[in-house]
Amino acid sequence: MERFNFIFIVAGILFFTLAFVIMGALPLAQYQGIDVVSMDQIATNIPYQFDELARDYPEAFEKAFGTTEPTADAFKEALETGRQAYIAEACWHCHTQQIRRIDPNDGTEVGHDVSRWAPDTRLESEADEYHNAMNYPHLFGTRRVGPDLIRSSGRHSNDWHLAHLWNPRETSPYSVMPPYTWFFDDDQGKVPNKRGLGMVTYLQWLGSWHTQFAPSQYEDLPQLPFDESWYPPYVPPETQPGEEGDPYAEEDPYGGEEDY
Ligand code: HEC
Repeated sequence: MERFNFIFIVAGILFFTLAFVIMGALPLAQYQGIDVVSMDQIATNIPYQFDELARDYPEAFEKAFGTTEPTADAFKEALETGRQAYIAEACWHCHTQQIRRIDPNDGTEVGHDVSRWAPDTRLESEADEYHNAMNYPHLFGTRRVGPDLIRSSGRHSNDWHLAHLWNPRETSPYSVMPPYTWFFDDDQGKVPNKRGLGMVTYLQWLGSWHTQFAPSQYEDLPQLPFDESWYPPYVPPETQPGEEGDPYAEEDPYGGEEDY
């Protein structure tokens, strides 16, 4: 018996060392020579949707970033704000940021990545998409209640995102995503605040390094398969966000504070 104990302990230590080398030491050695893309480098490639935000919401934009111009500094601040809000709101609890070669339509696996991202593009997420200052820590996510977001850029317009954040069921009738009314300064979802503008900037940045779509292409993008019969009958909510009695309107999770 004693001999078995000894063998198990030695085997345990060996396996632990092997795992440490393969998953820790080797990647570290492999990526050591590659510089992490900095925020300044990220800001040399500003997606056009950020210019649109500055143009369409000049007052809100100025209030948030102290300028009406879509400058690199404003972009960096917006990105960082959006990412902080993404973490704080636990968007990662329902959304992943990693594309895999899986598709339910071939009858083998769960997920929609192939239908959604078209098999002919560079499909799976690759290491270089994460090797930048916005990925410390990375936000791979854990579950897929909603679709993957790593290449969201340009799949919807800014206004779609704002309407969706204000009330997801306005754009997606069956959505289980909660409304984020505290991303807005008014009670109608028309004036985004710094977090709202930051979140749209962040979503439009995600994947902007990969494929950019012009607004005229939105309708031609591959869509998720959808069949109403999969869902129970749609029951409109009793209250709209912002209205009296709206359960989400009662609390401001930030206690009225703009910065966190
Ligand atoms: C309870 C789970 C849940 C949470 C939390 C959640 N979402 Fe969603 N999200 C969904 C679902 C389900 C959908 C698909 C239906 C729809 O479009 O609303 C979705 C859709 C989306 C889409 C549209 C994706 C596309 O390409 O069509 C975006 C963008 C998005 N969510 C962003 C966010 C952000 C940002 C947050 C955090 C502020 C968030 N979500 C939090 C469940 C969630």
